[in-house]
Amino acid sequence: MTESITIRRPDDWHLHLRDGAMLKAVLPETARHFGRAIIMPNLVPPVVTGALAAAYRDRILAALPEGMHFEPLMTLYLTEDTDSSDLAAAHASGLVKAVKLYPAGATTNSASGVRDFNKVRPVLEKMAEIGLPLCVHGEVTDAEIDIFDREAVFIDRVLDPIRKATPGLRVVMEHITTRDGVQYVAANDTDLGATITAHHLIINRNHILVGGIKPHYYCLPVAKREEHRLELLKAATSGDPRYFLGTDSAPHTDDNKEMACGCAGCFTATNTMSLVAEMFDREGAMDKLEGFVSLNGPAFYGLPVNEGTITLAKGGPVEYPDKIETEDGPVRVFDPGFPLHWRVV
Ligand code: NCD
Ligand code: ZN
Repeated sequence: MTESITIRRPDDWHLHLRDGAMLKAVLPETARHFGRAIIMPNLVPPVVTGALAAAYRDRILAALPEGMHFEPLMTLYLTEDTDSSDLAAAHASGLVKAVKLYPAGATTNSASGVRDFNKVRPVLEKMAEIGLPLCVHGEVTDAEIDIFDREAVFIDRVLDPIRKATPGLRVVMEHITTRDGVQYVAANDTDLGATITAHHLIINRNHILVGGIKPHYYCLPVAKREEHRLELLKAATSGDPRYFLGTDSAPHTDDNKEMACGCAGCFTATNTMSLVAEMFDREGAMDKLEGFVSLNGPAFYGLPVNEGTITLAKGGPVEYPDKIETEDGPVRVFDPGFPLHWRVV
């Protein structure tokens, strides 16, 4: 008998869809399995106002192939000039579901991010008042801080002070990569949640650097030591409702990854559900899968769970394409380096 599991349709609580030709190519990869996704606003120029978010949402829906159903949950990119009343109106209309904080210079297209956190204090207070969550790219960008320490230092120097200064602010620590991230979630209340990517459940920093440099495993935050990966796996499979899937699927063309200064980002939209199911199965935690991918995220955001379901079945290795073709060039699909046995049927 085939082993199978039916769960509520999952959501992705951190996704990069880009725009134009790339959007058109990557959107079906997500919409095939996922009902909704929190859409990252780091376009060039970034999505900084309600009007820009509404226009981006329209472009996403226009790019959705006939017959597919997908709801983009829009975000605003927080800058030192963000207007509280525009943000509150975009939230009240139901358009915007979160605000994204990038420390300036932290990652791809983050030049407009925040340098002086005092400047955004009034906006954060407004968000706490209206219940609009803040999604945080939790890395400091100071040149003297080692890249492998940037998450831990961010928690101490930025995140904890922001949360203490803004009681009631709901915060998602995005794509946590360290034991420090897990411990910070564990030590706090339900106003704090965290997303975990599929690839950070699978790779550690050796995968990027041992035996030749592997640009397709380079993303930000960069994967850390194995002991950190094991903590993430434990957190994701724990059943704790504060953890949920945010793939951070971040497509770049192969040309832009395989160069002297390659872009950060792993493209996992195509095979996420197989990746996550494989890792949960190995942990003997298939009973926790639905919580992580389909239930905990909506609960944190105060949204209903999806009506539909998906069924995953276990069998012989699943074949995925090495890459997807886009008008901008091929985009390599994340390769876990081992066979995957669960497929969405
Ligand atoms: C993201 C991208 O390419 O937009 N890259 C990444 O490595 N995750 C930006 C981000 O979320 O950090
Ligand atoms: Zn991201």
